[in-house]
Amino acid sequence: MSQKLKGRKAVVTGAGSGMGRAIAKRFAEEGASVAALDLDLAAAESTAQSIVEAGGTAFSLRVDVSDDASVRAAIDGSVTALGGIDVLANIAGILDGYAPVLETSEQLWDRIIGVDLKGPFLMTRAVLPTMLENGGGTIVNMASIAGFVARGGGAAYTSAKHGVIGLTKQTAADYGLRGIRVNAICPGAVETAMTKQILDEGEAAVIESINAVPAGRHAQPEEIANLALFLANDESSFVHGAAYVIDGGWTIV
Ligand SMILES: NC(=O)c1ccc[n+]([C@@H]2O[C@H](COP(=O)([O-])OP(=O)(O)OC[C@H]3O[C@@H](n4cnc5c(N)ncnc54)[C@H](O)[C@@H]3O)[C@@H](O)[C@H]2O)c1
Repeated sequence: MSQKLKGRKAVVTGAGSGMGRAIAKRFAEEGASVAALDLDLAAAESTAQSIVEAGGTAFSLRVDVSDDASVRAAIDGSVTALGGIDVLANIAGILDGYAPVLETSEQLWDRIIGVDLKGPFLMTRAVLPTMLENGGGTIVNMASIAGFVARGGGAAYTSAKHGVIGLTKQTAADYGLRGIRVNAICPGAVETAMTKQILDEGEAAVIESINAVPAGRHAQPEEIANLALFLANDESSFVHGAAYVIDGGWTIV
């Protein structure tokens, strides 16, 4: 069977859990060597180990995507271990507890924007020189339906995810001619630790809207990983700066 990422070198953030873990595993199944990066090193190690046990190639590194020194160290380590980087998946993210503006402290705002928006920016800035040197690459950014509409998160999260779509478009426009494709994924509710937090702590109206999608269920992380795979490999060769909604119909009703 042909492998869609055969010989490619991929870096995935947030690889210790949820969608990042599913994407790291999917990329490895399709032949990529994977650097599994996460703030939680033990979780990243567990993902890398499960890839290796399945016959793939992976290693893990700790990164705090909101910290430039940490990002640069992780990218240097990834380039050394993988021998280059062809694919970057910016998946790490945190939620803001659905806080409206009046309940958003400056500290909460900075933390959410730092991880969810500055994180993909710092990672992209650190990876681009290597990709450009190699003649190109693909970047997959994790946005959300909160990148299009309100009520997919609070003020900081929704602002950050709208920003991720802007970063995706601008980077795609600036570097497309040099072989870089950048696209975003915008999921609705996906069954991960983050969604469990919403269902455990969210308001009734929020939970109702999550459960009322036409698909009648939440997504599995593997369903999102399939879209990430499409955007990362050459099958999507004419897709530049797009933001793909994958939400079970949440935003059409
Ligand atoms: N779960 C959903 O329904 C949903 C929907 C739309 C978008 N998203 C987005 O998908 C992405 C993944 O979410 P998930 O649901 O898989 O969550 P998750 O909580 O299962 O995984 C998030 C991972 O990111 C890591 N992380 C957190 N802060 C970090 C940092 N500073 N540096 C590096 N790693 C860090 C965590 O350790 C964790 O392993 C996030 O960007 C989230 O905003 C989630």
